[in-house]
Amino acid sequence: MNDNFAHRAAEWDSPEKIKMTEIFVAEMLQQVELKKTWKALELGAGTGLVGMQVLSRLGSVVFEDTSAAMLGVLKEKLNDESPVEIVHGEVYDYNKQDIDLVFSCMAFHHVPDIERTIHHLAAITNPDGLVVIGDLLTEDGSFHRFEPIPHKGFDLDMLRGQFEKGGFEILVAQPYHTLRRERVEGIVTEYTQFILVTQKRSV
Ligand SMILES: C[S@@+](CC[C@H](N)C(=O)[O-])C[C@H]1O[C@@H](n2cnc3c(N)ncnc32)[C@H](O)[C@@H]1O
Repeated sequence: MNDNFAHRAAEWDSPEKIKMTEIFVAEMLQQVELKKTWKALELGAGTGLVGMQVLSRLGSVVFEDTSAAMLGVLKEKLNDESPVEIVHGEVYDYNKQDIDLVFSCMAFHHVPDIERTIHHLAAITNPDGLVVIGDLLTEDGSFHRFEPIPHKGFDLDMLRGQFEKGGFEILVAQPYHTLRRERVEGIVTEYTQFILVTQKRSV
C-alpha cells in the first residue's frame, strides 16, 4: 500500500491544519447532533485531527487511513482507555455493518473509486446511518501543485447524484469555507470547501 503521506505525517498537525479541521468540525456539529451511543468511522483519518475533536461526543470511533505514518502520529494521542479502533487500510477493509456515522475531511479526493466507496459506505452503515464529507469543490489541480491526484475536487451535483444512486438521501450539500493558498508563487488561489451530509435510505 502506498503511503503518500509518510513524509508529511510528523509535521501534519500545524496551526493551519488544526484550524482547517476546527472549521470542518464546527460545520459538522451545526448540521448533525452527535450521540454518545454512536459508533463512528473516520475515512482518511490521518493524524486524527477531526476525530479526536469529536471522540468525547461519540461512543467510539474507527480511525481508517492508508498511511501508517499518519496513523502513527494519531496513536501517540491515544491511551489504553480510548474508545477507538484503528484500521490501517482502505475503507473496504472495514467490513462490519455497525457504523452510525461516517465522516471525512479532505480525504475523499484521494480515494480513487468513489462509486465503489459509496457502495461500501452503504454496506457498513446502520439503517438511517449518516455520512458527512468535507472536501474541495472542483479546482484546477493547483491545490496539489499539479501532482497526480484521483480527483481535482468535486462537482457537488455529480457527487450528490452518486450518493443518491448509492442509496443515500441528501440532507445538506453546500459550501462552508474558502481556503486561500499560494500554491503557485505570487498567485493566491481560492479553494472552496463543501460539506455533504447524507443519510442511508431505509429499505
Ligand atoms: C489531506 S489528508 C487529511 C487527513 C485528515 N482527514 C485531516 O483533515 O487532517 C488525506 C488523508 O487521506 C488518506 N488517504 C489517502 N488515500 C486514502 C484511501 N484510499 N483510503 C483512506 N485514506 C486515504 C491519506 O493517507 C491522508 O491521511
